[in-house]
Amino acid sequence: MSAAAMSSLLAQLPLLAQVRAVYDQDPSMFDTAGPQAGRLAALGWTLSIAGTVVFLVVMGLLLWPLWRQRHAPPVDGPPAPVRERAWLLVGGAAVPALILAGVFVVTLATQRATASQGKPPVTVEVVGHQWWWEIRYPHDSVRTADEIHIPVGVPVQVILRSSDVLHSFWVPNLAGKTDLITGTDNATWIQANRAGVWRGQCAEYCGMQHAHMAFSVVAQPEGEYRRWLASERAAARPPSDSAGLQGEQVFLAQPCRYCHMVRGTQAAGLVGPDLTHVASRLTLAGGALPNTRGNLAGWIENPHGIKPGVKMPAVPLTGPELQAVVAYLETLK
Ligand code: CUA
Repeated sequence: MSAAAMSSLLAQLPLLAQVRAVYDQDPSMFDTAGPQAGRLAALGWTLSIAGTVVFLVVMGLLLWPLWRQRHAPPVDGPPAPVRERAWLLVGGAAVPALILAGVFVVTLATQRATASQGKPPVTVEVVGHQWWWEIRYPHDSVRTADEIHIPVGVPVQVILRSSDVLHSFWVPNLAGKTDLITGTDNATWIQANRAGVWRGQCAEYCGMQHAHMAFSVVAQPEGEYRRWLASERAAARPPSDSAGLQGEQVFLAQPCRYCHMVRGTQAAGLVGPDLTHVASRLTLAGGALPNTRGNLAGWIENPHGIKPGVKMPAVPLTGPELQAVVAYLETLK
């Protein structure tokens, strides 16, 4: 790694801490917050404990004769006939077969329990893009990015699509991984047993910025979730102050509007994230940055410095224009 790459990596460390602070807990499949993750963690523990016991028993059986031979008095004559040790052969085949059959049954049962939920009451469509997540609520005409809101205690069906290459949907605290496959729909479901914010991450290498393809799952009580959905469904309110109005003009005059949609304005692009309510989101740039004013300005000014290879171009703006656009985007709550 070159010195420049190293120093740019080090410069990102405070940012990583900020991004972490967005979430209620670190992503961990053993720190479970939903029924699926609970079953997967139980399976993980069962297999780890079974594996450890088998390892210890096999090592014990291996070392025991060596230890015994070392400490036994020397014996003359031929070894005991093989027939007397036949039980060892039977045991050596039957015991592993039984253990493997047990593991198979436990794994199948977990797979069955985590696979399907019939027809869950809430459906979310997730489209993977290099390198961000498009989130749609098809029954409510809501389109957002990098943030899935769900009601607590309710199974949520997640329909997975890819717009380009393979990605994988993973929220370790809630459920296992499910791939987004180009050209076909895949599906999974998630459920959170308590309110909180969990980090999700793309779990299939999808190019240069794979690591910066994260999202949040925000589990809310039913009423709060409904309010969020209603506010997301609404078109953007026109800005009420002069800075915002000026920023809107710059935004609509620049190429921004060909890639981004702001419902209620002429910006109707479908290439990048919908920005109608961007100011209400927790993160920016596929979960790479906490959504603060400074990060927003930095991201617009130099997206390639933050995510090299990203498809968002740097739009040449003057300082005052950038200030105005940021002021405008900050009104999009
Ligand atoms: Cu998308 Cu890795």
